[in-house]
Amino acid sequence: MKKVAIACDHGGFKLKNEILKHLEKKNYEIINLGTDSEESVDYPDYGRRCAETVARGEADTGIVVCGTGIGISIAANKVKGIRCGLCTSREMAELTRLHNDANVLALGGRILRVEEALEIVDVFLNTEFEGGRHQRRVDALDNY
Ligand code: RB5
Repeated sequence: MKKVAIACDHGGFKLKNEILKHLEKKNYEIINLGTDSEESVDYPDYGRRCAETVARGEADTGIVVCGTGIGISIAANKVKGIRCGLCTSREMAELTRLHNDANVLALGGRILRVEEALEIVDVFLNTEFEGGRHQRRVDALDNY
């Protein structure tokens, strides 16, 4: 079972709680990195915290949530070795695993309905990287 690190800002707090409940029911091992209320915080701190946890190998994969998913995905992608995919559909979740070997998923708490987000999470966590021609491109990303 994958170990999942998860973090959010205030805009992603409600959705993060839904994801936590969903993954706990499925017995995932979870590292919750905050934030833990709707009090305003800065998404770069939380995107970075989750991405660094994955980059250090303390979690297999990460999930980051802010209002749109945009700011926190930009933050996560600043960390070397992180390939964070911002997804708004199950197709995007599947493709970012198959083609980009994304190791962090970004979601918008003010963009997605809870059911949509949970479906995206499940697809992301259960899709394996396709390798092959995509490996060269992923290597190029990591070798920046
Ligand atoms: C916070 O108000 C909001 O800017 C943040 O959650 C996110 O949407 C940034 O991209």
